[in-house]
Amino acid sequence: MSTNLSRRKTLGLLAGAPVAMRAAASRAAAQGLADIARKAKITYGASAGAVIFDDADYRLLYLEHCRALTTDVDMKFDWLRPAADKWDWGPADRLADFALRTGMTLRGHTLIWNENAPDWLKKLSLAQIRRVFDEHIETVVSRYAGKVAVWDVVNEPFWPGHGKPGGYRTGPWYEAFGPDYIARALRRARAADPRAKLAINEAHCERMDAVGKGIRAGMRRLAAHLQDVDAPLDVLGFQGHLQPQLPFDDARFAAFLRRFAGLELHITELDVNDESFPDSIRRRDALVAARYGNFLEAVLAVPAVTTVINWQLADHYSWYAGLARAGQLRSRRAPRPLPFDSAYGRKPAWFAMARAFGRRKTG
Ligand code: XIL
Repeated sequence: MSTNLSRRKTLGLLAGAPVAMRAAASRAAAQGLADIARKAKITYGASAGAVIFDDADYRLLYLEHCRALTTDVDMKFDWLRPAADKWDWGPADRLADFALRTGMTLRGHTLIWNENAPDWLKKLSLAQIRRVFDEHIETVVSRYAGKVAVWDVVNEPFWPGHGKPGGYRTGPWYEAFGPDYIARALRRARAADPRAKLAINEAHCERMDAVGKGIRAGMRRLAAHLQDVDAPLDVLGFQGHLQPQLPFDDARFAAFLRRFAGLELHITELDVNDESFPDSIRRRDALVAARYGNFLEAVLAVPAVTTVINWQLADHYSWYAGLARAGQLRSRRAPRPLPFDSAYGRKPAWFAMARAFGRRKTG
């Protein structure tokens, strides 16, 4: 894909818009999103998987637009460890090398998550699970020491629906240690690589329903507790899988973010679920773009926010494309949750993001 083609497409999208807006958009189109974000003191990037090594045009999008790369699935426990006695480092190593060679900040996703435990792990005794926990963190973090800049040490600590005290998500790690698994994971990760920034990454916090409320309360209590026990935590990650079909309130979410003094805040998996939007692509893209724009403008007003990461870059590689195919969304139509379409053209969402970065007041 040549830059000219994408610029032509870009301008086509804006045909009929006022001249000044077209000129501004044309200037913006010449730059990558990360360049625009950097002026707003934001590190911008996306998650990626092995497909970037097969699809040269998609890889080019990362090179043009990203300064940060999150491993999508390749550093997850079950991908690294398909069996009790087998480690599969190849895909993770390859992505790590790509990020480093191309000057991107690498984010490791994720060390400890109660959700993606393979069956072999679930069959172990609690004592064995405790040993695997410590060994896993030590082995993985040491291997990528000096390479992974930020670790999502714990993913999705809360799920009130599990009915555990404090609203914690349950699973093998929780069962083995109780909620203390979180502080333990942070300490072990710090010991294995003192230079990496350590994050807790959570979902659903922007939802203004009972789930969102419960998880926000949990995150506030957890951050305070980790500070009390002196656990090493640098970053709170908020996934930002926006769900416009559910209640939301960007100003209240931003107010919630402002309460975390002394921590860096990252938006780590941004995309927009468009399943409740109309079929018309023009209309749908406009609504998705508006959601991006409003969310980012509220969030970027919070000074502690330093990083914004999309979950993949182009619609057909979104996890929602897989969910739609599997019949897990309202319809099987192809979702359009990301800033680029499946032909790698910049969508209105791209321009909404660029505008939000451009408007951020810094300093
Ligand atoms: C997703 C991957 O992108 C999919 O390929 C996989 O099938 C399921 O997981 N929150 C997270 C991510 O923290 O790890 C999830 O990634 C998306 C939701």
